[in-house]
Amino acid sequence: MTTATSTEQQPALLRYQPTELDSSPEVSELLQQLGLGSFVPDGLTAFGGRNDNWAGTTTSGDQVFVKTVVRAPDGSSRELDRTLAYENLVGQLPADSPLRSPVHLGTHRAGALSAYRLLSGARSGSEVALDGDFDEELCRTAGRAVATLHGLDTSGTDVDSDEAPLPPLGWLEAFPWSAAQERSMAQIAAWKLVQDDAEVVSALHLLRDREKAAPLTPAHCDLRFDQFIHHEGTLYLCDWEEFRIADPARDVGAFIGEWLFQATYSVFAPTGAPTGAPGAPALGFDLTHEEIVERGADSLRRHVPRIAAFWQGYLECRVPDAGLAERAVGFAGWHMYDRLIATAQAHAILNPVARAAAGIGRVLLLNPSGAVATLRLEAPSGSS
Ligand SMILES: Nc1ncnc2c1ncn2[C@@H]1O[C@H](COP(=O)(O)OP(=O)(O)O)[C@@H](O)[C@H]1O
Ligand SMILES: [Mg+2]
Repeated sequence: MTTATSTEQQPALLRYQPTELDSSPEVSELLQQLGLGSFVPDGLTAFGGRNDNWAGTTTSGDQVFVKTVVRAPDGSSRELDRTLAYENLVGQLPADSPLRSPVHLGTHRAGALSAYRLLSGARSGSEVALDGDFDEELCRTAGRAVATLHGLDTSGTDVDSDEAPLPPLGWLEAFPWSAAQERSMAQIAAWKLVQDDAEVVSALHLLRDREKAAPLTPAHCDLRFDQFIHHEGTLYLCDWEEFRIADPARDVGAFIGEWLFQATYSVFAPTGAPTGAPGAPALGFDLTHEEIVERGADSLRRHVPRIAAFWQGYLECRVPDAGLAERAVGFAGWHMYDRLIATAQAHAILNPVARAAAGIGRVLLLNPSGAVATLRLEAPSGSS
């Protein structure tokens, strides 16, 4: 599939039937190499995600999570290389570091597989957010983790510094016919919201220009709620296949964008009820545009303290460059479009709430400096 958004995937709340192990013999090879025996079929499960994964107990009695990533036809995998680059770096972190990720047990290169210690009984960050439990304290913890990531020392290491692919600037004019064929009517309509809006297109170009001039750092580059895992009171960050040297504003903006997207959608679905659930009412079709905007504004106000808490946590661990907050608002704006394009995949018609999310994204992209104070992304104390 031609993938232009990071998010064309299912939320991680659900457990799935894993792919048959017989069709992925490398999984058993990896477990054997690591001295973990093999997966016990009983209770073996999979979590939602872009890539195949297996979670369960092995015959050695260990709890293990194995995931596969994309391989090129020649067998190489940039995703795996980036993941390993991250795993090599985190060795430098002290045990009490604010940045935590699941323990990496080993890798099977030919199979593009990695094994991790399974955080058994954990909840995905998207589940925590939907349940209303991603509170200010947890947001502050997330901010500290992300700032610590941005402060990692990569000198003497070989971390990917290729430009992050999103937003796909070529697609802002038009996308290839092959890509159009693979997309739903709603998704094409969502793309057209961007493509037909000359001001948004030029704001996205400007954002990428600003990014090029910004001081770059190690960055996750695919941050979303479902990349966080909450386990026994500790917050972990996973899924490092986009890890690279990039603008730290990408991660900050993605986290802010997650909240703004959630704020927009939660107006129409009570907390705890996933909006895409079968039988859920169509979003917003019974409301006027004014009602949507009014409810949306209220919801945004309610979510701002969490964004502020994330930023406070960030400032506790790192001094951002002077333009980071403003660029982050721009990336949050893009994130709104990215998410609405992804969620439109399953629909024939673009719903009014998706249009409201685009409206908010547009405001952020066109006037990022105006939103810095509203979102309480204050400058660190001591700076002018
Ligand atoms: N070590 C782990 N223990 C428990 N759950 C995990 C672990 N690693 C990942 N997960 C869960 O599995 C989901 C998919 O893993 P992820 O690495 O994000 O794969 P993908 O690239 O497919 O998104 C995550 O969103 C998270 O909820
Ligand atoms: Mg993921």
